[in-house]
Parts: sequence; C-alpha cells; structure tokens
Amino acid sequence: MPADAPESIARSVAIDGPTASGKSVVGRAVAEALRIGFFDTGLMYRACTLAALRGTLDIEDEAAVTAMVKSLDLDMRWGEPTDPRIVLDGTDVTPLLRDPEVERNVSLVSRISEVRDELVRRQRMIASREPVVMAGRDIGTRVLVEARTKVFLDASTEIRARRRLGEELDSGRQTNFDQVLTATRRRDELDNTGHRAIKREQAADDALVIDTDALGIDQVVERTLDHYRAMNGATA
Ligand code: DC
Repeated sequence: MPADAPESIARSVAIDGPTASGKSVVGRAVAEALRIGFFDTGLMYRACTLAALRGTLDIEDEAAVTAMVKSLDLDMRWGEPTDPRIVLDGTDVTPLLRDPEVERNVSLVSRISEVRDELVRRQRMIASREPVVMAGRDIGTRVLVEARTKVFLDASTEIRARRRLGEELDSGRQTNFDQVLTATRRRDELDNTGHRAIKREQAADDALVIDTDALGIDQVVERTLDHYRAMNGATA
C-alpha cells in the first residue's frame, strides 16, 4: 500500500460490475451488515449531469463541463448507511438524480476523462475520512486501488436485462424485455470507455469475481462479507 493511503481506504469495499449487475442492492446490504456508508459513485456522475443541465453551458462542450465540475460544491453524506445523499450547493438533490433527462445525458458527462479524474480524486478524499462500501465501474482499478476487499459482480446481458425489466415494471413504466435488452446493450457500449471495468477481464487483478447469474442476492452478499472477513482478519 502506498504510504499515503489511509487505513480507511484499505478497509473499504470496492464493488464493480456492469449496469444492472446488482452493485447497488448488494452494496447496500453489505454496508448495512458492516455499519459503514454505501457510496454509489454513479450518483456523483448524475449530480454533475444535473448541474450541467441546470446551467447555460453546452453539455457536449467537454472543457466547459470539466471547469464546471471542478468548481462544484458537491458532497456525499449519510443519515443511514444504506442511504447515500448527494448534497449540491448545500441542497440534497438525490431525488432528482434518476430523472429521465439526467439518465439520457449522464454518459456524455461520465465519458469525459478530466471529469473522471476530478471525481476519482473527490471519491478518494471521502473514503479517506471513513471506510465505505463503494460501487461503480472503476473502483477496484482506479479509485480504491488499495482496498483489501474488491469484488466484481458479473452477470449475462439477458439476466441483467431481466432484472432491470422487473425494476422498471415495478416502478410503473411501460416497457418490455426487448426494449430493456437493447437499452442494457447500449449502456454497456457507452460505459466501455475510459478505464472502466464492465467485463470480467477488465476487473482488478486482485478482485474476487462473482458470477451472479445463478445466485440470489443473499448469496452474493454472503460471499462478499466472507471475502471482507478473510481479507481483514480477526478484527473484521
Ligand atoms: O451506475 P449508474 O447507472 O448510476 O451510473 C451513471 C453513469 O455514471 C453511467 O454512465 C456510468 C457512469 N459511472 C462511471 O462511469 N463510473 C462510476 N464509478 C460510476 C458510474
């Protein structure tokens, strides 16, 4: 571990995987079991997208978006460990981050490498304050490289689309399997740039790869917690 990596980063849990692989649901349950905050890094990219959409800048102007992101007053806080809240300019904007407008534009923002550099820096800063369970696409490979516990959740495209379809129908949206499958493939394509790990061969070398196709959530959570205990010794 580099001398400047605090123990809170080493003790944090890094969870990576493609869209709809179960990172959030597993991350929340692991955070609850360990009583540490669940840090959904996707929310940060979404908050930057919201800020860009609110401003007058052209969201395709990478230099302007980068400058705006660098100046943002953005933080993540927890009331409950399982419930990360994004605070932008002193206001909790979490309920706005799944709006269709944000959903449509977030990949334009998350593909900008300077934006990624800035958010990686901020994510490391927050994990230096206290250990977290952090989920994203580059956590084990870039953000929390020194974390002892890294998992990569893998699942076939069809299974991920089926899970996403269930969520969409539950939240009252009209859709079907083919539409969700197409959207899942498209999201994978958009996310497959800029050092992101969305395929198992892109996972960190020291990550435990969990194939979740045939597993229930509880089993994935249990494997992750077992791995955490094994990596952190008797004090875990
Ligand atoms: O996980 P999500 O759907 O909330 O992520 C939103 C967007 O942010 C998506 O384009 C992927 C991107 N993202 C990323 O590039 N790196 C992360 N660590 C987390 C999310």
